[in-house]
Amino acid sequence: MSMSMSLSVDEAGRALADPAAYADDARLHAALALLRREAPVHRVESPGYNPFWAITRHADVMEVERDNTLFVNAPRPLLTTAEFDAIRREQRATGRELRTLVHMDDPQHRVVRAIGADWFRPKAMRALEPRVRELARRYVDRMVEHGGACDFVTQIGVHYPLYVILSLLGLPESDFPRMLKLTQELFGGADEELRRGAGVQEQIATLMDFFAYFRALTESRRATPTDDLASAIANARVDGEPLSDVDTASYYVIIATAGHDTTSATIAGGLHALIDHPDQLDRLRDDPGLLPAAAEEMIRWVTPVKGFMRTATADTHIAGVPIAEGESVLLSYPSANRDEDVFADPFRFDVGRDPNRHLAFGFGVHFCLGAALARMETRAFFAELLPRLDSIELAGDPELSATTFVGGLKHLPIRYTLT
Ligand code: HEM
Repeated sequence: MSMSMSLSVDEAGRALADPAAYADDARLHAALALLRREAPVHRVESPGYNPFWAITRHADVMEVERDNTLFVNAPRPLLTTAEFDAIRREQRATGRELRTLVHMDDPQHRVVRAIGADWFRPKAMRALEPRVRELARRYVDRMVEHGGACDFVTQIGVHYPLYVILSLLGLPESDFPRMLKLTQELFGGADEELRRGAGVQEQIATLMDFFAYFRALTESRRATPTDDLASAIANARVDGEPLSDVDTASYYVIIATAGHDTTSATIAGGLHALIDHPDQLDRLRDDPGLLPAAAEEMIRWVTPVKGFMRTATADTHIAGVPIAEGESVLLSYPSANRDEDVFADPFRFDVGRDPNRHLAFGFGVHFCLGAALARMETRAFFAELLPRLDSIELAGDPELSATTFVGGLKHLPIRYTLT
């Protein structure tokens, strides 16, 4: 943490718009800790980005999310480059905008969210659970097949959650490789190794590929409805009308993308944390009753979603700092989840942490639709792995992806003995 001594608050603020900062945990958390302490509502001006306010304290993030009239998601729900912001603006002006739930506000948001909501409730989760357990077993078996060593992220971690989400949507397993590639290109946006090409046009091209795939899916589910989430979306009515092509495809895109990289980052980061904290690994193995708390702590620890944005609809204040109408704020979840005012010893990984009021799933009307699924998947994986695990250690350096949006480990080389 000695870095924070030499870091200015302006430099710390700019780290929030720098994908590379997210690939370096120590650098990121030094910057966030400094902002929480000295400038918890801080205006960031960073080359290539439109200005924004960084919100780094847990209480302030909650306050913004709670008031979804004063702070709205449109038109700038995500931290993207000024170039990308401009393309979105042009698309909006010409009616070609791709909109997902996170781009919407009430009343539309409420109506559109309700279309998929039943598929994430406890009843649907119970129905899906045997399939999730089966997939967890399949991927732990695959670890065995890899012969005691693998890159956990690329060989296991990214596959399992995608299979789960494709199962919920009702898509065929044969589409798995294509979906995996597209999601990584989209969410790995700024990471050199993962992204498809150099620039914004390539990101848009990836998005268009997604939409083409899902447009075809909609047509087939309308012709022949089946009992799955894809059919619910394809055949939904809003005010008696079906969703437009763009809105239908947007729905699939948010489910497929949001449901995938987030959970895989959590599982890989959770495993890494257990390797780094053998006492916590032993504790969890001795007391499987801690699994729900441990999964929650993994989600806090990793915080795979680095931030969402809101835009003020009127002049206001956050923690006494004036925010003008039309200005945007970045809600820093990694920062909120290390807030010393809320978490006892926030940099300690504690599989029994209670209470654990983390904000990794956000808060309020946009609270993560898939939170129950993500929890179930994480628990199911470790419930299968831990009883079969004799030993585990790193076999190389773990690497984090460089992204300001969704990410975590992109490589986790491990060695293990597993039965
Ligand atoms: C929204 C985190 C897994 C679907 C969100 C938000 C966050 C988040 C922070 C925005 C909340 C806000 O604005 O207040 C996570 C994390 C996950 C995860 C950390 C895993 C550990 C999933 C899964 C799905 C999913 C498995 C399943 C499909 C969604 C959807 C939204 C959303 C549809 C948009 C909700 C809305 O705007 O109304 N998630 N998510 N997420 N998440 Fe997740």
